[in-house]
Amino acid sequence: MRIDIISVLPELLESPFSHSILKRAQQKGLLEVHLHALRNFASGKHKQVDDYPFGGGAGMVMKVEPIAACFEHLQEERDYDEVIYTSPDGQLLDQALCNELSMKQNILILCGHYKGVDERIREKYITREVSIGDYVLSGGELAAAVIVDAVGRLIPGVLNDETSALFDSFQDSLLAPPVYTRPAEWRGMQVPDVLLSGHEKKIEEWRHDQSVQRTKDRRPDLYNKWVGEEGE
Ligand code: ADE
Repeated sequence: MRIDIISVLPELLESPFSHSILKRAQQKGLLEVHLHALRNFASGKHKQVDDYPFGGGAGMVMKVEPIAACFEHLQEERDYDEVIYTSPDGQLLDQALCNELSMKQNILILCGHYKGVDERIREKYITREVSIGDYVLSGGELAAAVIVDAVGRLIPGVLNDETSALFDSFQDSLLAPPVYTRPAEWRGMQVPDVLLSGHEKKIEEWRHDQSVQRTKDRRPDLYNKWVGEEGE
């Protein structure tokens, strides 16, 4: 998968993709992440990427021309399966959307900034607007990093043990069960006996029960969805 990210602050995104799983994914040739500085596509002495909103009001608006120039430059090289705009107005990112995006070959992400982008960009180029939660960030870069992380780890072959993504929280609409590692006893706190039993079937049942209970306690919204989907 190739992901191109357009940003007014690409420096913000240099670190998140240079470590751990996403770094390995790139080294294995499973993921390519390319950052593009929007300012490089702006013209004039000041390389201006924002301007005052028509009609007045606070804040600046991302200008049409630099974004169009950058999109058109990139689209000459390849077709994008999705052109995503990060915005609090967008579709909420969830595991289902991450799964869907992990199947794509080429994704282009425009990081929102300032008061937002000129509406004509949204109309002409954007295929999907994505929000990472009901709160407002100061820019779309951290949202883009979240999307790339959550999607990148789902690309087949990225995780060492491919099955591990299958058991993530949310992958079957339930939260993940508790996990433990050595020592088996710490300050009087014991790891549940079943996990030390070596009895695979019992362990699987325990984990499932814990997932259900945890989801019921912490996320009744997800629990009700799961009951509707699967029944108990
Ligand atoms: N830009 C600002 N806030 C955002 C959010 N919650 N999700 C995605 N992009 C954003």
